[in-house]
Amino acid sequence: MPRSIIVGSGKSIPPICVTNDMLSRVMDTTDAWIQERSGVQTRYYVEKGTSTADLGAQAAAEALANASVDKDEVDLLISATMTPDHYFPGNGGLIQKRLGMKPVASFDIRQQCAGFLYAMQLADAHVRAGLAKTVLVVGHEVHTGFMPYSENSWACLYGQSEKVTEAEWEWNNRFRHLVVLFGDAGAAVVVKATDDERRGVVDSLLRTDGTDFDKLYVPGTGFRHRPYTDPAQFERGDHVPVMDGRHVFKMATTRMIEASQQVLARNGVKPEELKLVLMHQANKRINEYCAKQLGLREEQVLHNIERYGNTTAATIPLLWDEAARAGRIAPGDPILMVAFGAGMNWGATLLRA
Ligand code: ACO
Repeated sequence: MPRSIIVGSGKSIPPICVTNDMLSRVMDTTDAWIQERSGVQTRYYVEKGTSTADLGAQAAAEALANASVDKDEVDLLISATMTPDHYFPGNGGLIQKRLGMKPVASFDIRQQCAGFLYAMQLADAHVRAGLAKTVLVVGHEVHTGFMPYSENSWACLYGQSEKVTEAEWEWNNRFRHLVVLFGDAGAAVVVKATDDERRGVVDSLLRTDGTDFDKLYVPGTGFRHRPYTDPAQFERGDHVPVMDGRHVFKMATTRMIEASQQVLARNGVKPEELKLVLMHQANKRINEYCAKQLGLREEQVLHNIERYGNTTAATIPLLWDEAARAGRIAPGDPILMVAFGAGMNWGATLLRA
């Protein structure tokens, strides 16, 4: 049975670097609070008008070039995002169009922060079943559409306006625990079938439990409402995600540790044997706790949350791209990917590079 290996990767980081001090111009927050509670120092925002599919297509083009794979070789495209350009269609076709690819099978999946792991399992299953030989997997997000700021708040954040009004300050504070965490980014990998049994995806453990879905979700602008979007929802702020941070923190640590231990145990791999662990970057404290409980050494665990914040489905391919380009991944290296996010969806994927 063929196995799936990652043969190239790419990323797209938007141009606007936003510091914690810039955020403190428009809400009651500080660089010290954000760094201490989450580890985030900067994040990148797109210019107004740049979309998720724009970032995804750029990252995908870079991944194809890095893999020396022609776009016409791709026979499956998987797009993972929770911030698609449109309600429908999904971003798969938009990326296919932007890259000028021939018509291919494509999936649009939305498992939020666990999206890339779900996408990798889908890619691997197609490869193992002989349904695909070359798969383009794209994780991409533009979170700035969630940011609840008025035009004046945006101008103030960028230093183009003196200050926000009292009402704007209050409004922005309502969402401060959430907005400081997120950044925009796209990242992609090219997966290819190989007959080399010493390499490729070994095993994936994926789980969804919707019991607590409302601890992290977007209450408004959905088809539970008629019409699905209206000014009253925006006035209430229902277009911005609701997040019970402490609850999600506890669930993330529990589930990420559990999934990692299970997938390692059932494949007879010890944590200390892993070359790298690529953890979703929602909060540096979550990852430090998980790393400690799993008994991992510092050099096994990569972090980039300090630069990019949480980039949801783009996070793990972004970590992969940086590690691969830094020469930290050699063929055959055992690598664990692990993530937890809204849904709640989580998982762990073990592979040999
Ligand atoms: N600046 C300053 N103070 C703040 C801010 C801010 N940006 N945000 C909240 N605070 C205040 C709170 O109001 C609270 O004040 P109080 O004590 O007076 O009530 C205090 O800081 C502590 O708030 P907590 O919510 O308890 O802070 P915590 O240490 O839990 O950190 C955080 C909050 C960073 C959100 C954390 O809970 C977290 O990271 N949770 C998990 C997030 C996550 O994993 N999300 C999943 C992925 S996202 C996805 O799937 C889409």
